[in-house]
Amino acid sequence: MSLKIMEAKAAPNGAPGNPNQALWEKGDFTEIAAFMRQSGEAVVESLGLRPPLRALDLGCGDGTTALPLALLGADVTGIDIARNLVKAGNKRAAEHGLTNLKFQEGDASNLEQVPDKSFDLVVSIFGAMFAPKPFDVAKEMVRVTKAAGRIVMGNWIPNDPTFVAQLLKISSNYTPPPPEGFVSPMTWGIENNVIERFAAAGIPAERVSFTRDTFTFNFQGTPSAYVDEFRKYYGPTMNAFEAAEKQGRAAELQKELEELFNSENKSQDATSIPATFLRVTVAV
Ligand SMILES: C[S@@+](CC[C@H](N)C(=O)[O-])C[C@H]1O[C@@H](n2cnc3c(N)ncnc32)[C@H](O)[C@@H]1O
Repeated sequence: MSLKIMEAKAAPNGAPGNPNQALWEKGDFTEIAAFMRQSGEAVVESLGLRPPLRALDLGCGDGTTALPLALLGADVTGIDIARNLVKAGNKRAAEHGLTNLKFQEGDASNLEQVPDKSFDLVVSIFGAMFAPKPFDVAKEMVRVTKAAGRIVMGNWIPNDPTFVAQLLKISSNYTPPPPEGFVSPMTWGIENNVIERFAAAGIPAERVSFTRDTFTFNFQGTPSAYVDEFRKYYGPTMNAFEAAEKQGRAAELQKELEELFNSENKSQDATSIPATFLRVTVAV
């Protein structure tokens, strides 16, 4: 599947015209992340960590994974391309009185500010998959991980029938085609691509393992109200609506999303939507 809502061209960190940065600074992803906290905590619990350890959360947003990692006692750096989310993450760290959690701006395709072998654990839950240049992303993740360290990625799966893959697929049907040479973020959900990218970074296939896992989005309101949250705050959905409005198809997009959110909802009195993802573990 080609995810047309993402742009391919990379520009230096913070440079004007970096479409990857503009996409995620659009809207306010913290409003979406608010419904992802329980699953973020569950991912961290499942890692079976025993601090002390140094962890990097790449494409961390406002800390869905980074904050529970820090609460567990890890020394955590969160890196994200979106400056508003870096600011929101540092605010959350301060509110929790956490001195072992810092957020900074950076691009997963080029972690130039991070020395080699800095972290015991590099985690990226639906984060680094959205960076351009996937081979560079794999190389950077391996470079900054200590020997005998671990990389854990959560990646959405192309054409998966569950929530997020379908949300992105529907949205992409309303947006213009991607530029030449574009590599869809969803290719991080294909095992062979993941193996190929880490192999190019010096990691043999037998040190890369895969499981299917579930992330649940919980919202105290109706599925239709939840669509409105995505329309207001989630960059990819906002772009899809902007494109749909220009084509006079916004109502059609709204209807398709409401159907998806309603059909995937498992709650009777609120909204609870599970989504399947590919969990990648790399032994460095
Ligand atoms: C779907 S959000 C997930 C955020 C967070 N991991 C969470 O679970 O709440 C994707 C995140 O990846 C970040 N991102 C996208 N491209 C990036 C890049 N090139 N380098 C670093 N972060 C990036 C976005 O800014 C956004 O915060």
